[in-house]
Amino acid sequence: MVNYKDLGLVNSREIFAKAMQGGYAIPAFNFNNMEQLQAIIQACVAQKSPVILQVSQGARKYANQTMLRYMAQGAVEYAKELGCEIPIVLHLDHGDSFELCKSCIEYGFSSVMIDGSHLPYEENVALTKKVVDYAHQYDVTVEGELGVLAGVEDEVSAEHSTYTKAEDVEDFVKKTGVDSLAISIGTSHGANKFRPEQCTRNEDGVLIPPPLRFDILAEIEKRIPGFPIVLHGSSSVPQDQVAIVNKYGGAMKDAIGIPEEQLRQAAKSAVCKVNIDSDGRIVMTAAVRQVLAEKPAEFDPRKYLGPARDNLKALYEHKIVNVLGSAQRV
Ligand code: G3H
Ligand code: 13P
Ligand code: ZN
Repeated sequence: MVNYKDLGLVNSREIFAKAMQGGYAIPAFNFNNMEQLQAIIQACVAQKSPVILQVSQGARKYANQTMLRYMAQGAVEYAKELGCEIPIVLHLDHGDSFELCKSCIEYGFSSVMIDGSHLPYEENVALTKKVVDYAHQYDVTVEGELGVLAGVEDEVSAEHSTYTKAEDVEDFVKKTGVDSLAISIGTSHGANKFRPEQCTRNEDGVLIPPPLRFDILAEIEKRIPGFPIVLHGSSSVPQDQVAIVNKYGGAMKDAIGIPEEQLRQAAKSAVCKVNIDSDGRIVMTAAVRQVLAEKPAEFDPRKYLGPARDNLKALYEHKIVNVLGSAQRV
């Protein structure tokens, strides 16, 4: 058993309380490899932002749990070396079982998500409570979820609503004891968040996605005032980066994300954590494709992963400064 405090990590309690008070949100960036982690730490140190390092189940499998534990510890030391001791949370993204959450806690995670959002309500409550009861013994914070995020195949329209039911949140938070709650108000995972027919077009022919349901968010805030809310599926899918991917041999069709103004608006509310993964993937892929296309003789991975890392850093700094408002909050 490794305690996260011995690795220099923190749980999310204090940084969420500060974010709530200050009207900003903490970035939750997913990582799977060293270059992504370096870029996250470089950006957060440069902008003096707290950060949540997110590891999905797939990432844990890809990177290996022991490697991850040392990478997180390395990230803490790297931040210090770069000159700023920022709060760093190591968080399990979309944990789907008690056993997985327990194992992550044993390997040094300071925060876990138990995603019971696909289960019937009472089963979600029971599973989430079980994880909370275990995690809190070690002062590990827990994120639960109510409402299902639509994938591109799912229907986002009100008729087939998978939005969070505001009337459930008070009961869920009370019964489970969770520290934060992920909600569904129209975001979704991946680079194709909306089908073109769900969007309108402006005069230049640019697709405009349906707006997030701020009315549901407001209703939730009314029912659980001051409680930290989490927004998943919050990539904006930068069109300039998608264009680079496609220019250099990629095939990303109809890729569309959440407009950044809407995320900026959400960050000022009770939304304390904003999850961003796909934007990083796109930026990294664009850089790698461009270098390999322009320099076909290149075979040193540092020559394409290095530029990818630089562009990732720029992306994360942009999110921190211009979207989430978490800069200079350390
Ligand atoms: O919510 C999903 C995250 O983007 C992680 O994705 O399971 O492919 O690592 P992944
Ligand atoms: P994106 O796919 O929009 O980046 O969402 C990531 C996420 O929610 C991770 O949990
Ligand atoms: Zn998610």
